[in-house]
Amino acid sequence: MKRTWLTLTSIFVLLSFVSCSENHFREDKVFAGGLYVKKVDLNKGKQIYTEFCMPCHGVDGDGKGVAAKAMKVPPRDFTAGVFKFGEVVAGELPHDKHLYKILEKGLHGTAMLPWDLTEQQMYQVVQYIKTFAPQVWEGKDKKLGEQIVVSKNPYGPAHKQAAIEAGKKVYHGEAACWSCHKAYVPKAELAKLADMSVSDITDDAYQIKLQETEWGFKNIPPDFTWHSVRSAETVEELFVRLSAGVGGTAMPSWKGTITDEQIWALSHYVKYLMDLKDTPERKAFMKGLK
Ligand code: HEC
Ligand code: HEC
Repeated sequence: MKRTWLTLTSIFVLLSFVSCSENHFREDKVFAGGLYVKKVDLNKGKQIYTEFCMPCHGVDGDGKGVAAKAMKVPPRDFTAGVFKFGEVVAGELPHDKHLYKILEKGLHGTAMLPWDLTEQQMYQVVQYIKTFAPQVWEGKDKKLGEQIVVSKNPYGPAHKQAAIEAGKKVYHGEAACWSCHKAYVPKAELAKLADMSVSDITDDAYQIKLQETEWGFKNIPPDFTWHSVRSAETVEELFVRLSAGVGGTAMPSWKGTITDEQIWALSHYVKYLMDLKDTPERKAFMKGLK
C-alpha cells in the first residue's frame, strides 16, 4: 500500500513537471510578417530546442550552452535577433524557409551540423527561437526582409572562364574585397587592378584582416582556398550570399553597390578559389602570388 502511494506520488510529480514544460506558453503569438503561431507549436518547439539545440545555444538562447565554451565559432546568440545567413539584405529578418535551409544543410566548417527534422519540427523550433528576441519578432507591425531575387546568370557554361576573369577584376578592383579578405594576384597585378602604385601595396594585402561583429567578438573574413564558406556551395548560392551579405558582421550586402553582372562574375571567381581548397594545385597557386 505504501509503495503504491509512493509510486503514485512520483508519477504525479513527473506528470506535473512534464505538463509544466508543455504549458510554458499559454498564449498564441503573432510574429514578423503577420505569422500567427499557436501556443502548442511554441511548446513543441521548446521541447525540440531543449533536446537538440540547448547544449550549444543555451537555456536562454544567448549562445552560452554548456558545449559552447571550446568552440572557435560561437553558437548564435538568438537574443539579439540578428541572423547571419538569411537570404535578405544583411541585418533584415530572414524568412522561415531560409532558417530551414540552414537546419537542413548546416553551416560548413562550424559546429552547426545538418539536422534531420521534419518540416513541422523545423517550423516549431524556428518559432520558439523567435521568442528569445521578442523585440524584433513579436507584433503585427514587424516586417521580414525582402528576399534576394536570383537574376539570370549572364555567364553560361561556355563563358565560365570569362566570368572568372571578370570576377578577379572586380574582386581586386572596384569592390576591393581583398581589403578584408586577401588578395589572390601578385603585387604588380594587384597594383594595376586596384589602381595603386606597387610601393603602396604591403604584405598585409595577403593576410586576412580580423573584423568586428555585432556580438562583441571579432571574426575572420575567410580565405576561400583554405576556410569553409559556411552558407554556399554553388555559384547560385554564392550569388545569393554576396547579394545579401552576412548579417551582424563586416561582410556587406553587395546588391545595388555593384551590378548583378559583377556579382555573378564574383560568384564564379569565389567558386574557382573554393575549388582550389584541399587540392595539390593550391600550393602552386599560392606560390604564384609571391
Ligand atoms: C554543437 C553545437 C550546436 C548545436 C547542437 C546547434 N547549433 Fe545552431 N549553431 C551553432 C553554431 C556554432 C552556429 C554559428 C555559426 C556561424 O556563426 O557561422 C549556429 C548557428 C545557428 C543559427 C543561426 C543562423 C544564422 O543565419 O545566423 C540558427 C538559426 C541555429 N544555429 C539553429 C539551431 C537549432 C534550431 C538547433 C537545434 C535543432 C541548433 N542550432 C543546434 C552550433 C550549434
Ligand atoms: C569590410 C570587410 C569585408 C569586405 C569588404 C568583404 N567581405 Fe566578405 N566577409 C567579411 C567577413 C568578416 C566575413 C565572415 C562572416 C562570418 O562571420 O561568417 C565574410 C564572409 C564572406 C563570404 C563567406 C560567406 C559564407 O557563407 O560563409 C564570402 C563568399 C565573401 N565574404 C565574399 C566577399 C566578396 C566577393 C567580397 C567583395 C565583393 C567581400 N566578401 C568583401 C568581410 C568582408
